[in-house]
Amino acid sequence: MKKSKRVKKSNSWKIKQHRDPFFKKSKSLGYRSRASFKLIELNKKYGFIKKDSNLLDLGSYPGGWSQIASQIISKGKILSIDTKDMKPIKNVKFLKADILKNETKNEIFEYFQSNLDIIISDMAADTTGNKSLDSIRTNQLCSETINFSKDILKPKGVLVSKLFMGEDFIEVKDLAKSIFKTVNFFKPLSSRRESKETYLHCKALKSL
Ligand SMILES: C[S@@+](CC[C@H](N)C(=O)[O-])C[C@H]1O[C@@H](n2cnc3c(N)ncnc32)[C@H](O)[C@@H]1O
Repeated sequence: MKKSKRVKKSNSWKIKQHRDPFFKKSKSLGYRSRASFKLIELNKKYGFIKKDSNLLDLGSYPGGWSQIASQIISKGKILSIDTKDMKPIKNVKFLKADILKNETKNEIFEYFQSNLDIIISDMAADTTGNKSLDSIRTNQLCSETINFSKDILKPKGVLVSKLFMGEDFIEVKDLAKSIFKTVNFFKPLSSRRESKETYLHCKALKSL
C-alpha cells in the first residue's frame, strides 16, 4: 500500500475510534482496551466468573479482560498469558509466553494443578492483510484452546473464546461440540458490527 493511502487509512481508523462509545467509555473507566466490554457482556449473559474462580486469560495484552476478571475474582487465581509484555494488574500473575509451546502448557498445569474453572481466550493472530488467512489463523488458535481445555479444565469448567465466522467456522463448532456438553455463540454489542468476530461459550466437558 502507498504511504499516502496508509496515512489516510490510519487517520480514518483514528476518527472512527474516537467516535466509538465503547472506546470513550473504556478511557473514562480506566480500562486498557474496549475489549473489556466484550467480557462484561459475555459474563452478564452466561454468569461464569465467580469471586472464587480460578481463571486463565489467553491473549491477555494489553489487559482489558484481565482487569475485569481481577475486579470480580477475590478468592481465586488468575493467570494471564500473551506473547507481548503486559503491565501488572492486581491479583493477576502474568506470563509472557506462546500458548502454542508445550513448555507454556506445562507451566499452566503446574500453576493450576487440576483446579482450573475458566479459560477465556481473546487470542487473535497477527494480521497479514489477507482477511481469509487471518480468520483461519485465529480460528486455529481457537481450536488449539478447545483441545487444551479438555486436558486442563475441571469437568464443569467453562471456555470462552474468540473465533471468526470464516470458512472453517463449522469445523471449529464441531470440535467444540465433540468436547463440551453445552456450546453457545454470542456476539457482544461491543464487538464491531463489521467484524466477523464472535464468541464461543462452552460449558462442562463430555466424559470421553
Ligand atoms: C485482541 S488482543 C487481546 C485483547 C485483550 N483480551 C484485552 O482485553 O486487552 C489478542 C492478543 O492475542 C495475543 N496472541 C496471539 N497469538 C498468541 C499466542 N500464540 N500465545 C499467546 N498470545 C497470543 C496477541 O499477542 C494479542 O495481544
